[in-house]
Amino acid sequence: MTEQLKQAVDTRRTFAIISHPDAGKTTITEQLLLFGGAIRNAGTVKGKKTGNFAKSDWMEIEKQRGISVTSSVMQFDFDGKRVNILDTPGHEDFSEDTYRTLMAVDAAVMVVDTAKGIEAQTKKLFQVCRMRGIPIFTFMNKLDRDGREPLDLLEELEEVLEIDSYPMNWPIGMGKGLEGIYDLFHNRIELYHPEKYDGERFIPLNEDGEIEGEHALAQDSIYSQVLEEVELVREAGNEFDEEAIAAGELTPVFFGSALTNFGVETFLETFLQFAPKPSEHKTQAGEEVSPYEEEFSGFVFKIQANMNPAHRDRIAFVRICSGEFERGMDVFLERTGKKIKLANVTQFMADTRENVENAVAGDIIGLYDTGNYQIGDTIFTGKLKVAYEELPQFTPEMFMKVTAKNVLKQKSFHKGMEQLVQEGAIQMYKTYHTGDYIIGAVGQLQFEVFQHRMLNEYNTEVIMTPMGKKTARWIDPEILDEKMSSSRNILVRDRFDQPLFLFENEFAMRWFNDKYPDVELKALL
Ligand code: G4P
Repeated sequence: MTEQLKQAVDTRRTFAIISHPDAGKTTITEQLLLFGGAIRNAGTVKGKKTGNFAKSDWMEIEKQRGISVTSSVMQFDFDGKRVNILDTPGHEDFSEDTYRTLMAVDAAVMVVDTAKGIEAQTKKLFQVCRMRGIPIFTFMNKLDRDGREPLDLLEELEEVLEIDSYPMNWPIGMGKGLEGIYDLFHNRIELYHPEKYDGERFIPLNEDGEIEGEHALAQDSIYSQVLEEVELVREAGNEFDEEAIAAGELTPVFFGSALTNFGVETFLETFLQFAPKPSEHKTQAGEEVSPYEEEFSGFVFKIQANMNPAHRDRIAFVRICSGEFERGMDVFLERTGKKIKLANVTQFMADTRENVENAVAGDIIGLYDTGNYQIGDTIFTGKLKVAYEELPQFTPEMFMKVTAKNVLKQKSFHKGMEQLVQEGAIQMYKTYHTGDYIIGAVGQLQFEVFQHRMLNEYNTEVIMTPMGKKTARWIDPEILDEKMSSSRNILVRDRFDQPLFLFENEFAMRWFNDKYPDVELKALL
């Protein structure tokens, strides 16, 4: 690889922002895009919430928003780095794709609402990041509102998520009393209302971590309280440890307010300093492919169906793992051995003036797809011949019984089911004996996409009967006794013919555990 290309790879920083809905992910993303010059006005990204995003044609939405960032990948340059932010939608857009997106990033930023602490969805997304061992950076948001005590929040991080934390800064007051942040990392204070003092945003601190000379803030009682807290944290807290951060064992914690744009720039600068370069990627054969490898390779981690009935195409999102993408290049699809020309490809550089024609390891490209790709597919050039590790499957939580409305459409019904399941759009189960079809998903949107695509791509109207939330647990076929199935669970097979129970609720599962204490039940991720 040429020195120039190597340098290009080294500038890439690819990450996702994870949070529970309403913690402020959209707001902070927007601030980052503003810093990166990728958008000019606040409110541009937020607009998406007002439209019915899930059901619309996403390219159309992009046009309507009048900007060239897509909602899935947002790319911009900042501080000599090329930043790729991958969206992990919450609310009704949440799906298995959300989890899989975390397979394509090198780091994650976790946004937490200081009033609420760690919430359910944050925890789930965090666990997927944890499994990959990627660095996780925490932004404690909404400091302009009264929230929980900072110590309390750090304790919760350590207890609920079992991750060590290091506060990069410490709030000086909160809500109406917010004066600023004490920046332990840069040894300075960042003021929330510089105009209240002498107009300077930063107050440098001396070797003892105190304000040198006269400053009105030093007279405030909150200042001495913060000094005490900081001392406590310095003495009793974790050390700042770059290696532990890189290994995902220690999360640096930043406090701030995305809405009032306080602490966000400091966060971005510091984050980019420690966020990792594109990492190596493991193949099924257990080898690691270097991002500096000459030949191009990448894997499909998400397929976004075009919901517009006039178009049947969709976009396959590829994380580039090595080499360089050039428009029009030929690649091999590992699963089929087929050669494909990458002619119709979209990139996500927000600054269109540059009109980037190529991308390198760490970047994401979107391939217009008419049915060639499946989730988890590897593409490569030349002699590289790699197959990247399979993407994990996630335990679905919602289930529907599904049948074809028109019995004469059985053939296309089966074909559609098979292909959409293979592609990773939905999970499918069959009941024992009656062989009824049940589909499972982690988010409601997956059902809507499934129904829509069955109609538009396979010309089959499906009837879906909600079964509600269930707890899915796999059981070793060797020890399965069909009598274990009761009115509180449904025994089904997955598409690999492995048996599992769908329990009505946690209670039903505990009842089962009590009755069969020696039977091990397993969840996917
Ligand atoms: P999400 O993407 O994680 O779901 O959250 P989003 O950014 O949409 O923020 C959720 C709500 O929290 C929004 O208010 C947003 O304005 C508010 N918010 C985000 N960051 C901060 C912050 O630092 N401080 C305060 N006080 N509020 C914050 P909303 O009323 O639901 O939406 P909107 O009607 O204001 O757009």
